[in-house]
Amino acid sequence: MDNKPEGKEREYEFTEITLRQIELSDVDDFMEWATDEKFSRFCIWDTCTSKDQALDYIKNNDIYHPWSRAICIKNKAIREISVMPNSGCHSCRAELGYELAHKYWGKGIVTRAVKMVATTIFSEWSNLERIEAFVDIDNKGSQRVLEKVGFLREGVLRKFMSINGKSRDMVIFSLLSTDVVQH
Ligand SMILES: CC(C)(COP(=O)(O)OP(=O)(O)OC[C@H]1O[C@@H](n2cnc3c(N)ncnc32)[C@H](O)[C@@H]1OP(=O)(O)O)[C@@H](O)C(=O)NCCC(=O)NCCS
Repeated sequence: MDNKPEGKEREYEFTEITLRQIELSDVDDFMEWATDEKFSRFCIWDTCTSKDQALDYIKNNDIYHPWSRAICIKNKAIREISVMPNSGCHSCRAELGYELAHKYWGKGIVTRAVKMVATTIFSEWSNLERIEAFVDIDNKGSQRVLEKVGFLREGVLRKFMSINGKSRDMVIFSLLSTDVVQH
């Protein structure tokens, strides 16, 4: 029997997201989406096919990441959002990244998560003045997320990044500490 919540209860569930540290115990939730190719179309991501691979991935890429958080519904990790700082003369800016398990797409979840990060990260890191994101030119959903939060589309970087073996044009977006986050 399907016990999924219906109607208003279900909508409420998707507005109640939280962000927390990623843990090794998230591996079973991780495996639910880690083999999904829809997810990896616009990502630099080697699909994980075993639990050991997934554990290695979480250890190497999530737990040791300088700032990475699981996006959760009722504490279940449905994927992540991260901010990668730069050093030296680039320390005024950091790169935003995010991804969500396919079955949760189109419910406003990543837009909510990006707003949460955009409203807190500048006070967490006092030297930070800009967050930027690079989005595949065909990834319209991700571009829309950033526009809804208030990021500025700065332009297209031609043949900027190799994704799944092909060099891709990427759109660069930014949000400054002085910009207004849309609510
Ligand atoms: C891109 C991604 C992060 C979006 O997350 P999400 O929670 O589904 O996004 P939201 O529901 O908050 O918003 C998506 C918006 O894009 C729009 N959208 C989705 N697909 C679209 C398309 N093909 N063309 C135009 N708009 C599109 C939605 O309608 C929505 O806008 P709206 O609220 O104005 O209707 C998610 O699809 C994902 O994880 N994809 C795989 C990994 C990835 O691409 N990561 C980003 C790398 S830069």
